[in-house]
Amino acid sequence: MRPAKALPDLPTQAHPAGAEALRRCAELARFTSHPGALTRLYLTPEHRAAAGEVAEWMRQAGMTVAIDAAATVVGRYEGTTPDAPALLLGSHIDTVRDAGRYDGILGVVLAIQAVGALHARGERLPCAIEVLAFGDEEGVRFPVTLTGSRALAGTLDPAMLEAVDDDGITLRAALERFGCDPTELPSLARDPRRVLGYLELHIEQGPVLEAEGLPVGIVTGIAGASRVAAEVVGVAAHAGAMPMAARHDAVTAMAEMVLAVERVALATPGLVATVGRVEATPGAVNVIASGARFTIDLRSADDAIRARALERLRRELAGIATRRAVGLRLRETYDEPACTCAPRLVGALTDSVTRLGQRPFLLPSGAGHDGLAMAPLCPVGMLFLRCEGGISHSPEERVTAADAEAAGQVLLDFLCHFDPRGATAR
Ligand code: GLV
Ligand code: MN
Ligand code: MN
Repeated sequence: MRPAKALPDLPTQAHPAGAEALRRCAELARFTSHPGALTRLYLTPEHRAAAGEVAEWMRQAGMTVAIDAAATVVGRYEGTTPDAPALLLGSHIDTVRDAGRYDGILGVVLAIQAVGALHARGERLPCAIEVLAFGDEEGVRFPVTLTGSRALAGTLDPAMLEAVDDDGITLRAALERFGCDPTELPSLARDPRRVLGYLELHIEQGPVLEAEGLPVGIVTGIAGASRVAAEVVGVAAHAGAMPMAARHDAVTAMAEMVLAVERVALATPGLVATVGRVEATPGAVNVIASGARFTIDLRSADDAIRARALERLRRELAGIATRRAVGLRLRETYDEPACTCAPRLVGALTDSVTRLGQRPFLLPSGAGHDGLAMAPLCPVGMLFLRCEGGISHSPEERVTAADAEAAGQVLLDFLCHFDPRGATAR
């Protein structure tokens, strides 16, 4: 969907903090594996460079900084009493391939700026604040994801360390190359009594706020997701000599399976499904494919709908494989239940939005976020900012300085009114 008209961007001098946030996002976009486009995958040299820049911004904002064993940059701003339990803020600094500059990054930058504003005023809160810049929210490099947030929540499955990227490098080896010690991962698990909540600012990645004419919205919950790696096994043969009826073509079987994924999603209210990656082997113009691989991503706010759809897909894809006489392997690489944002944080964000003269508006998140993994640890809240045309996971992502400024003000107001007493209650 494209916007009917571009959002008006007000002069940057009218929104200095918002303009500074966008400038920092542009600065981080320099750290990419593909000059001219933005691709920054987990544990790559460009991730390391971006983490270094973010760590420097955190220091300037008055925080003490460390990079933990999952490569999350952790900045801490002590409260009035040293070593007090912390409210966690943050988002991620990894990207999809050919990404926009704001998905994740803007949330990290705005959180740092909010702490910087407190620091500049010499203000401390009755709790500590930690800003987290996670490195693995997109799950693009390895077939596992949310490594940093799962480590904090203590739910990281050690088997994840054996996941391999396209070059056959394990997550364990990539962590070591980055300078992290994977044996320290279990010790990252936080004590829930010392964590008051996790709050993330993020672009909406959908068109709802723009349609409502609102700069920000309060998230009610995050859709759960499943990811499946599918592999079709056919028989390679000559493209000219093998009659059509005698083929075991992995690509045509995959094509039918991809359409089945779309059909199931269209027939299931409350479900979205995507095949985002396909590949064929050996990949030659005159060879019937012996192999095909594709990914399936299923999302729903209702875990039962997602589970039923996955079962239905398993049956339908198996039926296609049998009819076409090809092999099929389905490997579930990700299964994250939906999460509901904590009513207390939803209420506090609603109060902040109202105090700043905006209409509070509640909406669900169809996109996944680190909050999914943080939910078993602590109450989770999210604030969305409008993005132009709802476009994200694309270099066309756009946000205005005015909206970034508005979101930053909501965050600062939220922090200044945050009451740590009873905060861990859901
Ligand atoms: C991350 O952006 C996801 O929702 O997959
Ligand atoms: Mn994101
Ligand atoms: Mn994303």
